Amino acid sequence: MTDGPAARAAALRAELRQHDYRYYVLNDPSVPDAEYDRLMRALRALEAAHPELITPDSPTQRVAGAPSEAFGEVVHRIPMLSLDNAFSAEDVAAFDRRIHERLGVEGELDYVAEPKLDGLAISVIYRDGALEQAATRGDGVTGEDVTANVRTVRRVPHRLSGRAPSLLEARGEVFMPLKGFERMNARARERGEKVFVNPRNAAAGSLRQLDPAITAARPLDAFFYGLGVLEGEPLPDGQARLLERLRALGLPVSPDVRRVRGVAGCLEYYRDIGALRGALPYQIDGVVYKVNSRADQERLGFVSRAPRWAIAHKFPAEEAVTVVRGIEFNVGRTGALTPIARLEPVFVGGVTVSNVTLHNIDEVHHKDVRVGDTVIVRRAGDVIPELVSVVLEKRPMNPRRPSEPASPEVQLPASCPVCGSRVLRAEGEAVARCTGGFTCRAQRQEALRHFASRRALDIEGLGDKVVEQLVEHELVRSPADLYALTTEQLAGLERMGEKSAANLVAAIGASRETTLPRLLYGLGIPDVGEATALALARHFGTLEALMAADEAQIQQVEDVGPVVAAEVAAFFASKDHRNVIKVLRDKGVRWPDMPKAPGEAATGTLAGKTFVLTGTLATMTREEAAEALAARGAKVAGSVSKKTSYVVAGSEAGSKLARARELGVRVLDEDELRALLRG
Ligand code: IVH
Repeated sequence: MTDGPAARAAALRAELRQHDYRYYVLNDPSVPDAEYDRLMRALRALEAAHPELITPDSPTQRVAGAPSEAFGEVVHRIPMLSLDNAFSAEDVAAFDRRIHERLGVEGELDYVAEPKLDGLAISVIYRDGALEQAATRGDGVTGEDVTANVRTVRRVPHRLSGRAPSLLEARGEVFMPLKGFERMNARARERGEKVFVNPRNAAAGSLRQLDPAITAARPLDAFFYGLGVLEGEPLPDGQARLLERLRALGLPVSPDVRRVRGVAGCLEYYRDIGALRGALPYQIDGVVYKVNSRADQERLGFVSRAPRWAIAHKFPAEEAVTVVRGIEFNVGRTGALTPIARLEPVFVGGVTVSNVTLHNIDEVHHKDVRVGDTVIVRRAGDVIPELVSVVLEKRPMNPRRPSEPASPEVQLPASCPVCGSRVLRAEGEAVARCTGGFTCRAQRQEALRHFASRRALDIEGLGDKVVEQLVEHELVRSPADLYALTTEQLAGLERMGEKSAANLVAAIGASRETTLPRLLYGLGIPDVGEATALALARHFGTLEALMAADEAQIQQVEDVGPVVAAEVAAFFASKDHRNVIKVLRDKGVRWPDMPKAPGEAATGTLAGKTFVLTGTLATMTREEAAEALAARGAKVAGSVSKKTSYVVAGSEAGSKLARARELGVRVLDEDELRALLRG
């Protein structure tokens, strides 16, 4: 940017005002909070460097949120302030250090740690125990009178319990629990009404209704965490006692508040609540630490708009704003073309995100994502990142025809971006596929990766980089070619030494002994996952029987519908695929026949025997052992009875082993199991 600081400050202020308006007045923000915070921080930094630029009406100088004229005004007896933010452990340590310095004390301080509820701050006044007035924060000095609406929030009592003070102004947060939010939005969607972007906006929109009957129908809740005024009884000596007192008066207080000591205690709470976050019934965006002692709070006082004795420690933002640099199509194992948005890298949900899947072309059109767009990206917990929406106000327009976007709508390519084969999209289907099949490099690569994956043939050391090179140098065209690879060929690949080449050849060799379900899954038949592969194997028993079956026969298999049956039949009808299977066999890949599904007599060396597995095995997982036993006709049961033939006990075997001894059931160790499996 070449603009001077004055112009930049003006631009930031204009943008922040626009966001304030959409947020506070319309309850309909166009950007996530994190983006708003970022703009605010940028403006603050600019003003700190150029104090002459500060204007009295700068958004940094006040608590945003002009009260709406539709409601009566309430002037708060004591301003409702905001909190400073900490974004890291260092920030928290600095906060604690500042407090020590100001108070001139040493040793660990007592804090109260609370969830930072993501709702709307309110003040509620009780006179002689009766609810008299409720108000929003507004701009911190003047709020809106929302008494009639707050009366409809079930958990806010109209009368306090027990001996009430003559005057109490309690402060807290009105919010919408997640379940209620989802239900309400689902209903709105059904009726084609506007949905709320998040629970906080839903809470704000619900509380600021002119008709309290509408508020009453919304699932609102509240927690209280602070005090405005208290008359007629002594002030509690700290935050912990205050919360106890509020609770005793019948006001809802979060059950997740905790007393902690020092920075370490604060950070431990932050981690604990962070781990709980996804399971909490309400949305939080961080935690708040408050110095417990009221005397200390009073000595620390306030600075501009926030107390010095409290700080909000925010979780990494789950939403962020970035720009779409490009939209590309990835080709998967079954040829499916997946649109991927390449993003200007952005830090969100604790990681840097530079790509996000758009799933299919319908989704791209539905969200109307275009190259150059500013978009909101979300990553919550470990969930894969998603593109939430486009910020249309920021879409670049065509300089010559300003009513037209600069970028055209994204189109499905007519030919595969990898191999150039035609792209087809079946009627009524969301996915478009490259028709190149195994001639398409991308599909070969994905097919190999899948074949070698852990739940398929489980070839250790055949990573993405190796697969890419094998396909690129045409060393491997189909999975069967893997079994002809030599150490010399592999050692010639990039970043592959003699030793790892030899290891890989050994791993490929070891994968020769496999099972029918693994093989079926590994072949990568469209729509055949692990469960379907197992069902097919159980039903047909042998690969020959499956290959000889027609669609109608395949549909006899449990949970297999016409679509999957057609895919399976088409797969084995292909000459290429039949050939791959033949070569696999010729190269020594072996899979024992499967026992028939229950109802048909099982065959195999262990047919008729029932096994129970317990404890930890050293050389295989219990699932692997169960699979190997099933492949030989044995039944694997979950509990020991008189009918159990054998209990296989690994280390740390517990009650099942005891039960086997009690009933006199034969107990095998791992070596004995292996011997049995060898037949
Ligand atoms: S104390 C003077 N405690 O966060 C102290 N605020 O970012 C002011 N908030 O305006 C607030 N949970 O709306 C406090 N446990 C909590 C809170 C909390 C959510 C909100 C509140 C406040 C905003 C500041």
